[in-house]
Amino acid sequence: MTAPAVGGGVVPTPKSRRAPRVLFLTHTGRIGGAETCLLAIAPAFAAPAGASSILLFQDGALRDRLNALGMEVLLARKPLDLRAIRRDGGLLRTLPRLGGMAGLVRQIRTLASRHDLIYCNSQKSFVLGALASRTGGAKLLWHLHDILDRSHFGRAQIALVVALANRRAARVVAPSQAVADAFVAAGGCASLVTVVPNGVPPPRVVRGADARAALRQGLGLPEGFVFGVFSRLAPWKGQHIALDALALLPDATCIIAGCALFGEDDYGRVLHAQAARLGVASRVRFLGHREDVPTLMQAVDVVVHPSIDPEPFGLTLVEAMLAATPVIASRAGAAAEILDGGQVGTLVPPGDASALAVALARVRAQPERLAPVVAAARLRAERHYGVERLRGDIGDIVRAVVDR
Ligand code: GLC
Repeated sequence: MTAPAVGGGVVPTPKSRRAPRVLFLTHTGRIGGAETCLLAIAPAFAAPAGASSILLFQDGALRDRLNALGMEVLLARKPLDLRAIRRDGGLLRTLPRLGGMAGLVRQIRTLASRHDLIYCNSQKSFVLGALASRTGGAKLLWHLHDILDRSHFGRAQIALVVALANRRAARVVAPSQAVADAFVAAGGCASLVTVVPNGVPPPRVVRGADARAALRQGLGLPEGFVFGVFSRLAPWKGQHIALDALALLPDATCIIAGCALFGEDDYGRVLHAQAARLGVASRVRFLGHREDVPTLMQAVDVVVHPSIDPEPFGLTLVEAMLAATPVIASRAGAAAEILDGGQVGTLVPPGDASALAVALARVRAQPERLAPVVAAARLRAERHYGVERLRGDIGDIVRAVVDR
């Protein structure tokens, strides 16, 4: 692209004038936390039409949501189901899928030749993006939504992705310092990483005690103390710890919103059986997937986030802060960063149901004591975890990488 120069001739327009053409990659069509973050970022790249596109390795609800934002969505020529490659699984499980992967790498390589940057929004898509990337071709950015430690992944997998990042990535974006630190501890190059906290849109506010009571009634909740857990169902998200804590709090009720997204279907059954065994089945409501999480959060007395392994970010924490509902979270991963070291929420040891029950009992005993904490939490969420800031930060990074 060129622009008229003073004095008649033409000089090249600085690259940064033209919107970077970004090829987003993601391995899943389902909408988990990382895909929610992608949906928040996408509007910054929806125009001009055709400049940026997203390649999904598998179709799913994500496609319609991206289309609605005006993004060009492409699908893998042959859908590639990488779910069998589990976070804790060995690399050997990848072997049967190598053929499909080779085809996809070729498709990515062809698409990448029309783009300035390959933006990998998941670990699996990063591996294929790295294999497809060429020296001198489109730059490679990895938005790393995982804590690369042994509680989550096998040794060989960590070694592979870190080596690929060090060799191939122009930038690694981490949603928290915890993610950045784990990447560096695993051998990742510190100068590659930029921390960009996630952003969450403000919720529709349910005002007044009546609206809250109506919401509770709609859910069939009894009067009295209710706490809620809002994340996909997965053993490491720790819903079983919340049930253990519920068993220690005789008059409390618990709602569990979320479903298994990435192959952890057995865990739902395990939770139901656990509730029956503990004799708390009548005091827990499994709500499945919900589109109205921010509203539900305003109907409970506390939001609990009981992950037993370090949480890379935890969008649910920010959602609860914006909903002005007290939060109790496991002190692992990003929770301490988001909750300002425990200033705007309560931190408990991961996997410790008794400590969680004690923290819940404290909230129940003195709800008024929490008003200033909740107000500070909301302010912090609005200041640090907004969507506009997220889009701006990502836009700046993409531009800087492309212009370099
Ligand atoms: C992943 C992480 C979660 C994070 C989300 C967005 O789903 O497990 O902690 O909030 O990505 O970064």
